[in-house]
Amino acid sequence: MDPLKPESTSGQKQGQDEFVRGASKKSSAREKRTGPSNLFIAAGPRLGDTVVTLEGVSKSFDDRLLYEDLNFALPKGGIVGVIGPNGCGKSTLFKMIAGEDTPDSGSIQVGETVKLMYVTQDRMGLDGDAGEKTVFESINNGYDLMTLGEKEDMNVRQYLGWFNFKSESQQKKVSMLSGGERNRLQLAQTLKIGGNLLLLDEPTNDLDVDTLRALEDALLDYAGCAVVISHDRYFLDRVATHILAFEGEDCKPFFWEGNFQSYEENKINRLGLVEPKRIKFKPLPS
Ligand SMILES: Nc1ncnc2c1ncn2[C@@H]1O[C@H](COP(=O)(O)OP(=O)(O)O)[C@@H](O)[C@H]1O
Ligand SMILES: [Mg+2]
Repeated sequence: MDPLKPESTSGQKQGQDEFVRGASKKSSAREKRTGPSNLFIAAGPRLGDTVVTLEGVSKSFDDRLLYEDLNFALPKGGIVGVIGPNGCGKSTLFKMIAGEDTPDSGSIQVGETVKLMYVTQDRMGLDGDAGEKTVFESINNGYDLMTLGEKEDMNVRQYLGWFNFKSESQQKKVSMLSGGERNRLQLAQTLKIGGNLLLLDEPTNDLDVDTLRALEDALLDYAGCAVVISHDRYFLDRVATHILAFEGEDCKPFFWEGNFQSYEENKINRLGLVEPKRIKFKPLPS
C-alpha cells in the first residue's frame, strides 16, 4: 500500500479502523502487562487525519548523503519503531519532524492538530541552572501539585514514582543524576505536558526494567501516535505496530505497516538472510 495514501476516506471506516487498532493494542497490553505500574501518557488534543507526512525528503551533511526520497505517513493510532545502524540519520529525522532541522529537499507536513512531545537522545535541558534543582523541584518548581493532561491536581511525588524515583531520589540534585536517572527524569519532564505525537529517541538506553515495562504498557495504552528509535528488539516486539527501517549498507529507508515480527519475516523474503554490514555512505550526487 502507498504510505502516502490516506488509509480511508470514509469517516465511518476511519472510526472503525481506529477502534480496531486501539482495541487490539489495549488487549495485547492487558495480556502482556507485567507490573503494577500506572505510568500514564496524556494524549492531548484529538489528532486530525494528518499526523506527519514526508514526501521526497532528502538530507545530507557535508559529503554524506543520509537519505534521498524518504516517503511515509505516520499512522494516527500507531507506534512506529525506527531501526537502523548508528549514524544513518534516525535522530536527524526526529529533529526535522520537530522543526529543529530542515530537509535539503522534499517536504515534511505536520498536521494542524499535532501537539508534540519530544525526548531527545542527548537528554538536553538537565544541565546548567536546571542541574541545580532537585528532581522534585524540576517537575513543577517545588509545588506539590501539577497538571497532567486534563488532571489539574496530580501529585508531583506520585508522578515521579511512576518513573521509579523513590522519595530519597526525589531530593537528589539533577546535576548528580546517573545516566539512567537522567533518562527517566527527561521522560517525566516531557510526558507531563501531554501531547498526541510522541517522539522517543532511544528511550530504553540505561532504563531499569521496571520503568521499561511501565513505559511499554503506557505506550500500548497511549491514544496518540508514538515514534520510537530503539535497538531493543524485545521492546519493539512488544510495542511496535509499524516499522521504519534503514536497511543494508546504504541504509535505505523502508516503511512497513505491521509489527516487528512481520517486518522481519518480510525482510527475509525481500532480502534473504542477510546480516547487517558496516555502514557505507553514498557519495553525494555531483
Ligand atoms: N548538525 C550536524 N552537522 C554535521 N553532521 C551531522 C549533524 N547532525 C548529525 N550529523 C551526522 O549525520 C549522521 C547521522 O546522524 P544521526 O541522525 O545522529 O544518526 P543516528 O541517530 O541514526 O545515529 C552522523 O554521521 C552524524 O555525525
Ligand atoms: Mg541517534
